Amino acid sequence: MNIQENISLKNYNTFGIDVKARFFVEITGLVQLQKVLELKAYPKKFIISGGSNMLLTKDIDALVVHLKLKGISIVEENENFVEVKAMAGENWHDLVMWSLEQGFGGLENLSLIPGNVGTAPIQNIGAYGVELKDVFVSCAAMDVKTGELEGFDNEACEFGYRDSIFKNEAKDKYIITSVVLKLTKKDHVLHTGYGSIENELKEKGIVHPTIRDISDAVIAIRRNKLPDPKEIGNSGSFFKNPVISQKAFDRFTKKNPNAPFYEMDDNQFKIPAGWLVEQCGFKGKRFGDAGVHEKQALVLVNHGSATGKEILDLSKKIQDEVQKTFKIKIQPEVNIIK
Ligand code: EPU
Repeated sequence: MNIQENISLKNYNTFGIDVKARFFVEITGLVQLQKVLELKAYPKKFIISGGSNMLLTKDIDALVVHLKLKGISIVEENENFVEVKAMAGENWHDLVMWSLEQGFGGLENLSLIPGNVGTAPIQNIGAYGVELKDVFVSCAAMDVKTGELEGFDNEACEFGYRDSIFKNEAKDKYIITSVVLKLTKKDHVLHTGYGSIENELKEKGIVHPTIRDISDAVIAIRRNKLPDPKEIGNSGSFFKNPVISQKAFDRFTKKNPNAPFYEMDDNQFKIPAGWLVEQCGFKGKRFGDAGVHEKQALVLVNHGSATGKEILDLSKKIQDEVQKTFKIKIQPEVNIIK
């Protein structure tokens, strides 16, 4: 086990924030992970995987454990379905591409989401009408206190919009080590309802799309709208779309009749935070190296050497302005490490 000291985490978080880890170790196996968790000499541990959903605002005075658990395998199948197990350190998009190469359906709408497999259940990643929970069977998670592996099935994960048990009661108590997903081998259920997918397919003249066509459409839409973390530091949507009650919605639409919204099941309404932020004049704005993406106001970006604190300050300024203008609270979806 090679424990290094004072390592920059710039290349380990997609925001590209240059903070230091006091200690740093890479983990490639479960037994190794158990051993690291037992190390008494390093009482504080901080787990990092794809680093795609965190904003680091200061140096990490702990042993940073970088998860590199790899492997994809089929654990069960019949003629219709397949259950695929992927280790936490696999890149999410690579898993999606692998599934398409095998002809397995279910992940195509979730193409090009940054981050690793192990983080996907934490925030129940979702895009273009599909959420992880729609294909999720179970995950294995290591108890950080005992080093024991526990299983969480779909129900136990308590998935919600960008939410799960791992953001609530189970926060910081477990390390997700692998995930099992149920995918289709034939009769794929296609989700083309999301407006921009329909348009993209129409433009290409595709009437009977395959799962690959849908993935291609999603990739084209995302490339056009969302910044690539390899080119410009970001963490995808920085804020969650706020969900408001019928009463608050009635008040809101009276004043803003042209605002987009999604109606939810239980008399609640989701308002796109990107729209709210744009209306407040922040889209494409830059404050030093901290900025708001020019094509999607939900995404905060690091133009080069912004500090985590500068991004955090910008996010607070945006929250305050949205609150003042619309009386709506928007909350970060990114995990802010203070
Ligand atoms: N909008 C604006 N201005 C903006 C951005 C959006 O007016 O700057 C409007 C759009 O015109 C549209 C509406 O807001 O009417 C919705 O925009 P979009 O389709 O881009 O989706 P979103 O609600 O802003 C969510 C997810 C994205 C996901 C897309 C597509 C959240 C927090 N974000 O964004 O997820 O890709 O839907 O399904 O739910 C991510 O989590 O990192 C992410 C990118």
